[in-house]
Amino acid sequence: MIILAIETSCDETSASVLKSTGGRLELLSNVVSSQIDIHKQYGGVVPEVAARHHVQNINPVIMEALETAKIKPQKLSYLAVVSGPGLITSLIVGVEAAKALSVAWQKPLINVNHMYSHIAGNFLSKVEFPAVCLVVSGGHTELVLLKNYSQFKKIGQTVDDAAGEAFDKVAKLLGLGYPGGPAVALKATEFLISNFQFSKISLPRPLINSGDFNFSFSGLKTAVLYTAQKMKKKELEQRTSEICYEFQQAVVDVLVGKTMKAAQKHKVKTVLMAGGVAANKKLRESLRESVEAKGLKFGVPEFRLCTDNAAMVAIAGYYLAKKKRPSRDDWKKVKVNPNWELK
Ligand code: KG4
Ligand code: ZN
Repeated sequence: MIILAIETSCDETSASVLKSTGGRLELLSNVVSSQIDIHKQYGGVVPEVAARHHVQNINPVIMEALETAKIKPQKLSYLAVVSGPGLITSLIVGVEAAKALSVAWQKPLINVNHMYSHIAGNFLSKVEFPAVCLVVSGGHTELVLLKNYSQFKKIGQTVDDAAGEAFDKVAKLLGLGYPGGPAVALKATEFLISNFQFSKISLPRPLINSGDFNFSFSGLKTAVLYTAQKMKKKELEQRTSEICYEFQQAVVDVLVGKTMKAAQKHKVKTVLMAGGVAANKKLRESLRESVEAKGLKFGVPEFRLCTDNAAMVAIAGYYLAKKKRPSRDDWKKVKVNPNWELK
């Protein structure tokens, strides 16, 4: 099976070719054209600007993915595209391109949920089920219980801001720029390197003992704001890295704590992680340590497959195609759904 996948849910235009031989998956290409440098100047993603760049980039990115993979369109088994959740103006570019190619090349189109594609970033190697996956991105924070590669159930989610959103907002209020996650993580590391002591700042760990699997990060962000407001300009400059360290630790404590409770309650064999925030080194190390201490398996995609990319969409497409054989008319049913929630 050879799949060409397309991803345009936010500010990355991406296309990837995946080949499966007897169940062994091989990524032949994964082209990602990021707009981060463009949106940086606005302090966040501007939907209309993102859409215009997707329109410019989509054909060259798809062609590059095919050329790198050395695959002619006739050789493809299926196309796959993300139709939600995400920014409607961005999604529509990838979805319409995929539909047009489905009709022109006579290849069935597989409709992929963006959050499921993040989870599928873990499926390049074999997973022992049942598994629980912590999905942490810019727009979502969820715990998903997996029975197998394509059957799953959401067991908890954020009641307000997503973890990535909190990183981005904290970075903005501390003047660290966009995207916030890597900037805050870098500052936190700086604190660790220059101080062989614990942070004297204490921030809350929201909902850590709530007894359910929900999250809340809005109050934590506000606590950072109040902490920063109490400091004089010079003190804030000197202690920004300390605030970042404590903020990152608070997010990690909550995410790891709840994921481990879910793993225990549902007696899983494997704990997985996915989404842009899964690129955070501290979170990766802390979750791995806790999971392995319990004798469970741990999985997280390599860095480039954590933030938005089409390779994870191709992998998701592969498992969806195995579950239900796609047909050439499927493109007619694919509609952009910016609020498509995992059930
Ligand atoms: O999954 P993703 O690429 O896009 C969405 O679907 O939202 O996630 C982007 C999010 C942003 O909020 C970004 O700040 C965060 O992932 N992120 C990180 C790191 N790298 C990216 N957060 C914390 N630490 C990082 N190293
Ligand atoms: Zn994403």
